[in-house]
Amino acid sequence: MNQSRPFKIIAIDGGAAVGKSSTAKGLAERLDMMHVDTGAHYRSLTHALLRAGADVSAPESTTAALAHLELETALVGRSAKLCIAGVVPTDAEIRSPEVNAAVSSFAAMPPLRTFLFEYQRNQANIARAKNFAGIIMEGRDIGSVIFPDADHRFFLYADEATRSARRAKEGQTDSIAARDQMDSRRKTAPLICPDGAIRIDTAPRSLEQVIETITRLIAPELL
Ligand code: DC
Repeated sequence: MNQSRPFKIIAIDGGAAVGKSSTAKGLAERLDMMHVDTGAHYRSLTHALLRAGADVSAPESTTAALAHLELETALVGRSAKLCIAGVVPTDAEIRSPEVNAAVSSFAAMPPLRTFLFEYQRNQANIARAKNFAGIIMEGRDIGSVIFPDADHRFFLYADEATRSARRAKEGQTDSIAARDQMDSRRKTAPLICPDGAIRIDTAPRSLEQVIETITRLIAPELL
C-alpha cells in the first residue's frame, strides 16, 4: 500500500435501508479504505445488553451492564467489526427481529452513545495504523458528531417503498419508518443531514451508479 497518499475520512449518513452499507463497502474496495458500519455497533451492543438483561425503560440497568463490556476491533477483510468480550456477534444475531425492535431505543440513550464515541473516533487511528488510504464510516451522526471534520460527507436517502422492498428482498422484518422517526426525533445525535453534506437519492440509481457518483466527487482520477 502507498504510504504517501493523504489519509481521508469519508462520512456516510442516512436512514434505514437507504443503501449505506452496500455503498460504503463498495467504495472501501474501490478506494482501498477501511469500512466501519456504526449501525452494527449499536446493534451489537443492543444484542449484548438484551442478553445481559438490560431493560431499555430502566436506564440504570443499561449503564450498569455497559460497565462490564470490553470493546475491541476485529478486521474482517476491509470491514472493522465491533468485538465484545472477544467475540464478534453474528449477522443473524444483530439483525434479528428483537434487535431491530430495540436498537433505536437503546441508541437514543446518551450513556450508550458516550460509551461508543471514543471507540468510533479511534477507528481512524486503526485504519491509519493498518495503512489504509482512509476510512469510510456509515451511520446516523457521523458527519454531524463523530467526524464533523471529515474530508467528505454524504447523506443518502430513498423513498419508503424502495427501502421496504430492499429489506423484504433481504428477508428481514424491520419497521423502517418507525426506526427513522425515533432516530430523527431523539435529543442526542439525531439522524440529520449535516450542513454541507452532499445529498444523494439512491432510489433511481443502481448501487454501481451511487458508488460512481461518490467516486467522481472524491477520487475522479480513479474513473
Ligand atoms: O444502520 P442500521 O439500520 O443498521 O442502524 C441500526 C440503528 O442504530 C438505527 O436505527 C439507529 C442506530 N444508529 C445510531 O443511532 N447512530 C449511528 N451512527 C448508527 C446507527
